[in-house]
Amino acid sequence: MNDKLQVIKEQVDGLIAQAIEEIKQAESSKMIQDIRVKYTGKKGELTQISKQMKDLEKYEKPILGQLINQFHQSFNEHIDKKQEQVKQKELAAQLASETIDVSLPGRRQNFGSRHLLTQTREELEDLFLGMGYQIIEGPEVELDSYNFEKMNLPKNHPARDMQDTFYISEEVLLRTHTSPVQARTMEKHDFVKDGPLKMVSPGKVFRRDNDDATHSHQFHQMEGLVVAERITMADLKGTLLQFAKAFFGEEREIRLRPSFFSFTEPSVEVDVSCFKCGGKGCNICKWTGWIEVLGAGLVHPNVLEMSGIDSNKYSGFAFGVGIDRVAMLKHNVDDIRHFYQNDLRFLTQFKGGQN
Ligand code: PHE
Repeated sequence: MNDKLQVIKEQVDGLIAQAIEEIKQAESSKMIQDIRVKYTGKKGELTQISKQMKDLEKYEKPILGQLINQFHQSFNEHIDKKQEQVKQKELAAQLASETIDVSLPGRRQNFGSRHLLTQTREELEDLFLGMGYQIIEGPEVELDSYNFEKMNLPKNHPARDMQDTFYISEEVLLRTHTSPVQARTMEKHDFVKDGPLKMVSPGKVFRRDNDDATHSHQFHQMEGLVVAERITMADLKGTLLQFAKAFFGEEREIRLRPSFFSFTEPSVEVDVSCFKCGGKGCNICKWTGWIEVLGAGLVHPNVLEMSGIDSNKYSGFAFGVGIDRVAMLKHNVDDIRHFYQNDLRFLTQFKGGQN
């Protein structure tokens, strides 16, 4: 072997030793790729050596070819083995970093629940739907004429004072009770086509009250109205007794006390026998055995006539329940303001209800 070939062989041997050493140190796919380029790439070290081929004698050329092949063989062997190891390591690292602990409990969705007032309104609606009533809603922003005048409370009537409210203008106000829905419904009712009128109307009402434990400037009522031929006080009493039993318990009794509303005549306040003490006397009924729950009466003939109904042919009864009030009574809530403060400690006590 002549000197030149000898030198090249030493270069190749040195190169392979150096490459193997570098391969040993490699720790990532990227480093391995760099080593490949450095040794066997187009401008790589081996290419540089191969360029000396042209300076060799013809018979020496295959020998150099063989040396280069041996280099490739050894280089590839080492680098492929290393590549496999690194790949395994990288995969393990990736899997470790993406680990999912399937045994962790899921994140709970916290569902809200219906407000006690909503639950109570729905309970009342169900009860009256069951007795064949329809549910009709009216506007909260109401005309003076519906809220007062058609309820037999002309302008300057002193009884208006009891229901002072928020005025939008002279003629537009926030309704003080659900009674205006009586007039709105009667006006549209056609007895020939629709038969007897039986409706309840739940909703918000407003008064210029100073808020305290039993008063709120906004609260809820449910109006009831039945108009047909020959409706009497007996129908009213029977209906309210059925309501009292269904809502407050089978053993309940009711009593009617005379009262005044401009839109009913006669008018009554309705008491239910105390559901806590059964009538013996306790703190809930203030030791009277009775709890006042609503106002009612026979629809005043003026009211029927103003809504276009012949008061000689038809008569009716009406009642107004305070939804907040009966909810407070039934669930022993001691302050109406709890309903409007959105304190979860209060609200979550009434998750039971319907859903
Ligand atoms: N509208 C009356 C009130 O708010 C209640 C009521 C309704 C009384 C129907 C009689 C008949 O006080």
